Amino acid sequence: MPMPERGRPWPELAAEMEAMRAGDLDWRRGRHGAYVWYASDDLEHVLREAFGMFLVENGLGIRVFPSLARMESEVLETVADLLGGPGAPGIFTSGGTESIFLAVAAMREWARATRPGLQRPGVVAPHSAHPALDKAAHYLGLEVRRVPVGPDFRADPAAMATAIDGQTIGLYASAPSYALGMVDPIAELGQLAAARGLWLHVDACVGGILGPFVRELGYPVPPFAFEVEGVTSVSADLHKSGFAAKPASTVLFRTEAHREFARFTFSDWPGGTYSSLTFTGTRPGGAIAAAWAAFQFLGREGYRELAGASMRARAAIESGLRAIDGVRIHGEPQLFAFAWAAEGVSMGRVAAALAREGWVAARTTSPDGIHVMATPIHERYADEYVAAAARAVAAARAAAGPALERPAAYN
Ligand SMILES: Cc1ncc(COP(=O)(O)O)c(C=O)c1O
Repeated sequence: MPMPERGRPWPELAAEMEAMRAGDLDWRRGRHGAYVWYASDDLEHVLREAFGMFLVENGLGIRVFPSLARMESEVLETVADLLGGPGAPGIFTSGGTESIFLAVAAMREWARATRPGLQRPGVVAPHSAHPALDKAAHYLGLEVRRVPVGPDFRADPAAMATAIDGQTIGLYASAPSYALGMVDPIAELGQLAAARGLWLHVDACVGGILGPFVRELGYPVPPFAFEVEGVTSVSADLHKSGFAAKPASTVLFRTEAHREFARFTFSDWPGGTYSSLTFTGTRPGGAIAAAWAAFQFLGREGYRELAGASMRARAAIESGLRAIDGVRIHGEPQLFAFAWAAEGVSMGRVAAALAREGWVAARTTSPDGIHVMATPIHERYADEYVAAAARAVAAARAAAGPALERPAAYN
């Protein structure tokens, strides 16, 4: 579409953009199993205002924007505190993928400095790890060795230990994994990493901010961050369970020296020394401001409420699903993400039937299932989801016929 010769008034554009939204995912009615983390209209208002206030400012020039510098360091200090590592140095990034990229980049540089001469450095990870790891490894020239998870769908430390070889530089685990919502056994993996002299990155992109509050409410969430010796870096997204505006995430490191391995510095150009800890150059001031405002507006009390609402949403959806004939939840997830399946039917058919009713039903493949990321808004729509799921399972059963074999996941 060529640019219009003459500009158009905002009200006309706003109306056109509003109309464009008609076909979008209806997240205000909780139809999402992914993509959106929404807390309340009040918080949405605060995020818009805060983002708007710093819309033009650029986080690349943090030195000339002491406001952004202060907000960024306060956010990072808060996250370090939540992750059991008060004072742990961090980087404010554009999302989980950038946070993981920087952790893996730092891991590689650390290995280059401490173990020079490795020919094909690699990372050992459970099969459940998010593809952001492989994306990072792809760009950084590292090998990822994925190891099957245990029968509980968590990382299997013994299998990971077996996969370590002389070229392994680090281990990777999740808290929780995206697909099935499992918190990996970080304490055991921390011991393994420490014993073998490896870097351990914990991908807490989903659970990093809200997980500690879920634990505070009395749910059994094991330590998954810097409380565990042997954890070298942790990524925690502000734009997921921190309920901040996109794009915003954090990656924290055990020590300043570890964080420095993420730094890129270059001087051989006419602009002097360029030195940066992030992958991106220009960074949205609005995202930093909105994250700071979210923490201050909600406080610990607000996050505890969001944690409670997320867990109640999960419980309501789970118990409704379990009442559907043949439905089971995969494993025992500890946070707000989980996956379910119905015996004797193709979950692809179930997901398609849900999608026809407007629900985003992300699939899991091993085992076959449908992923749910329960957020506070889902508490309100749990019954509608369960009813739609029951219709979808019935439709899939009718389509499949009674002779269908049980899927491999149940063998
Ligand atoms: C566990 C986990 N890690 C990393 C990511 C990547 O995050 P982003 O999409 O913000 O880059 C996701 C995204 O869903 C995730 O669930």
